[in-house]
Amino acid sequence: MFSHPQSLASKLRLAKLTSLSALVASSAAFVVASGHARPTARVVELTLTAAPSRLSLVPGESTDVFAYNGQVPGPTLEFREGDHVVIHFHNDLPEATTIHWHGLHIPAAMDGSPLEPVKPGGTFDYIFDVLPGSAGTYWYHPHPDRDAGYQVAKGLYGAIIIRAAGDPLAAIPEKLLVLSDNRFLPGGNLDLPPPDSPQGEIDEENGREGPVLFVNGQIMPTISIRSGEVQRWRVVNASAAREYRLALTGHEFLQVGTDGGLFERPVPVSEMMLAPGERVELLVRATGAPGSRAVLRTMPYDRYVPQTRPADWNVPRDLLTLQYTGEAPVEPVVLPTRLRAIPALDTTKVTVRRVIVLSQGLINGRMMDMHRVDEHARLGATEIWQIENVVGMDHPFHLHGFQFQVLDRNGVPEPFRAWKDMVNVPKHERVRIIVRFDDYPGKWMYHCHILTHEDHGMMGILAVTPTGR
Ligand code: C2O
Ligand code: CU
Ligand code: CU
Repeated sequence: MFSHPQSLASKLRLAKLTSLSALVASSAAFVVASGHARPTARVVELTLTAAPSRLSLVPGESTDVFAYNGQVPGPTLEFREGDHVVIHFHNDLPEATTIHWHGLHIPAAMDGSPLEPVKPGGTFDYIFDVLPGSAGTYWYHPHPDRDAGYQVAKGLYGAIIIRAAGDPLAAIPEKLLVLSDNRFLPGGNLDLPPPDSPQGEIDEENGREGPVLFVNGQIMPTISIRSGEVQRWRVVNASAAREYRLALTGHEFLQVGTDGGLFERPVPVSEMMLAPGERVELLVRATGAPGSRAVLRTMPYDRYVPQTRPADWNVPRDLLTLQYTGEAPVEPVVLPTRLRAIPALDTTKVTVRRVIVLSQGLINGRMMDMHRVDEHARLGATEIWQIENVVGMDHPFHLHGFQFQVLDRNGVPEPFRAWKDMVNVPKHERVRIIVRFDDYPGKWMYHCHILTHEDHGMMGILAVTPTGR
């Protein structure tokens, strides 16, 4: 199911990542139309099981984890626009869980929100269509009530790639980089201190960060590149709290996409900020000499309040090595200057404006209540949400189920259009987004994606209904 043979041949050690093709016995066998699929839809059916496992995450040690299909990260799921997806989920964990398909525009009942827990020993079939226009990089993770951070820390997260038939970058070799971090006890088990311990209190405040940084479950892996080549990197921030400020020594990036897929045209960037839950697509042009190497780093970024700012916050951290092969440079490929059209959501159609105030642990002064609806929206409505961070710590905001467009940040218009489901709202800043609730009535979560904040109630419920009441 990889459409890029180059990526299979690459040196990126993807040992811990298997593609969906390993899970689908034969996709051809499912191309037959089923009852609820459109006649032309390819049906992709697979099984995901969440279960305790013991794996080696750090060389030489083994760790009690929770894993999807025995792997951390879980298998990378690859779908095509138009696919009809059926995922048979088995919860073999000793506790309730869900699978949330972060960023996908699918029916509310399939969203894996805290409202739809799967009991220990239980099963659930997640069934949805992959909509045209949704090609991009997404991810999946548990979202049980007040327990998402714990289950993600234990190892439950994986990437989703949705491909379009007319992908303008299809010829470019591709790498997937799932970023995560974790903290271990001597002996190899995860360091998950009680919330009332000194470290537990810091984790509650900052979100849980760990000193061990993983790319696709590997520490400091190597990607190989040939001089002159261009690679497309899909990067997922699956960390519970860490914000990455990515920089590649001696190189620039061309950013070509974000949460909801490609931009209209590439944007040159020297660094890339990536908040928890966020994704980016970057083109890396191999401008170095054969045999040389570069390092992908995350540079210091102060998202913290002074009281709990880690002592080593200002130390750059290495993520992976980009190793040039000894081969002579290849001819540079010509990159498309136009990637796709992103129609602007129409501000003249806006009927409702909301203000969402993020304070420490609260949204609009309240903690999450599973039995309360915080905001009511009318199906079909276009709305502007002003998200204000009134405290001295960043809060990355996420809306379930709907891709939005950022209008402005602190009144400065966003320089280009993009589909987003995450937007970091830095300390004391404000962001305005526009969103259209075009489909899928139901209850939808919005929250801070620092998972301890979310688990402690920094989340609200939006009900989208035909009447808006
Ligand atoms: Cu990844 Cu409720 O989110
Ligand atoms: Cu989500
Ligand atoms: Cu937060």
